[in-house]
Amino acid sequence: MNPDLNLLHPYPFEKLAALKAAVTPPAELKDIMLSIGEPKHEPPRFVLDTLVKNLSKLSNYPTTKGIPELREAIATWATNRFKLAANTFTADKHVLPVNGTREALFAFAQAIVDRTEPNPLIVSPNPFYQIYEGAALLSGAEPYFLHCTPQNNFIPDFAAVPAKIWERTQLLFICSPGNPTGAVMSSGQLKELIALADKYDFVIASDECYSELYFDEQNPPVGLLQACAELGRNDFARCVVFHSLSKRSNLPGLRSGFVGGDAKILEKFLLYRTYHGCAMPVPTQLASVAAWQDETHVIENRKAYAEKFDAVLKILDGVLDVTKPDASFYLWPKTPINGEAFAQKLFETQKVTVLPGSYLAREANGFNPGENYVRLALVAPLEECIDAAERIKNFVQSL
Ligand SMILES: Cc1ncc(COP(=O)(O)O)c(C=O)c1O
Repeated sequence: MNPDLNLLHPYPFEKLAALKAAVTPPAELKDIMLSIGEPKHEPPRFVLDTLVKNLSKLSNYPTTKGIPELREAIATWATNRFKLAANTFTADKHVLPVNGTREALFAFAQAIVDRTEPNPLIVSPNPFYQIYEGAALLSGAEPYFLHCTPQNNFIPDFAAVPAKIWERTQLLFICSPGNPTGAVMSSGQLKELIALADKYDFVIASDECYSELYFDEQNPPVGLLQACAELGRNDFARCVVFHSLSKRSNLPGLRSGFVGGDAKILEKFLLYRTYHGCAMPVPTQLASVAAWQDETHVIENRKAYAEKFDAVLKILDGVLDVTKPDASFYLWPKTPINGEAFAQKLFETQKVTVLPGSYLAREANGFNPGENYVRLALVAPLEECIDAAERIKNFVQSL
């Protein structure tokens, strides 16, 4: 079999299950899971109704390119959201539906990496969403990690990357708002990256699946397409973004998102996807149209997360070294003891599950930037998040 499969790391949740299996939590306490980034708010009813109403359309094969209505809805959404110049981000050439960004991020690397070049690199933030690493390893590239630490406000220091690394780079993954840190890249930082991509001839894959979970209605996170538009780079050359309904609309099970950007890249990616066989079912596409055309439910969603952040941070204030992220639904506190030991003891004594930060990062230059962190996903209902925060407080005070 493909020997590269042996290079894949166990998924963070496999490691977490082993960590938890070694201890026994108090039987009387209710289990609270803050470990998995799976939205738990109600999905919009009208989206589910649209899905059900269109189930008869399962009798046709869908096309990989997707129905025009969906591509139009996405092009309109992205043009408004990211202030793109009129008619530059088109339904026909700049958008492809994908079955969640996970599959698209993975497949994209296969389509981009040129194995005839010597020693290709895929550069990724660290900590990171583990699919970037798997995508690199199975595309025949080597992953190269850039630490995200408090010193750089959890945004990699791209200016410090040596030229000889950029010369080998074929693809750069960025994640803004970041998982797990919630850090948002500025328009200036995105523009500097675009200049680097031009200079060294690589593609930027911008994972923006948390872009709609922010706190200030007047100040949404910028995206890579927006940085292109501000530069007048209306062909979005070398730039591709990944967006999802999973977090925005609480529809992780719908498996619906899109890739958008550079038309030349998307044309080839469409060819790849045609063989890959990952067309989105038509009822899913029609449900997605309804979701992308509505913002009311997204505003409600943001409000629900903001309420949880406020309540939890009030309890953890002075208890843990933690701050409100720029965006996303994660907290990334620094732990008073090693993050893995913290997660295990917290589960053993309080039955609250959090994810050790080291499971989301790799050691590079002798250092794992997730080592003394844990990730808390504020996905549980408000009362449960409050209960979990109280239990974390008791636990930290007992250390
Ligand atoms: C950073 C990041 N990217 C992509 C995904 C994949 O999301 P989906 O495949 O549901 O669109 C996730 C899911 O947790 C994520 O955290």
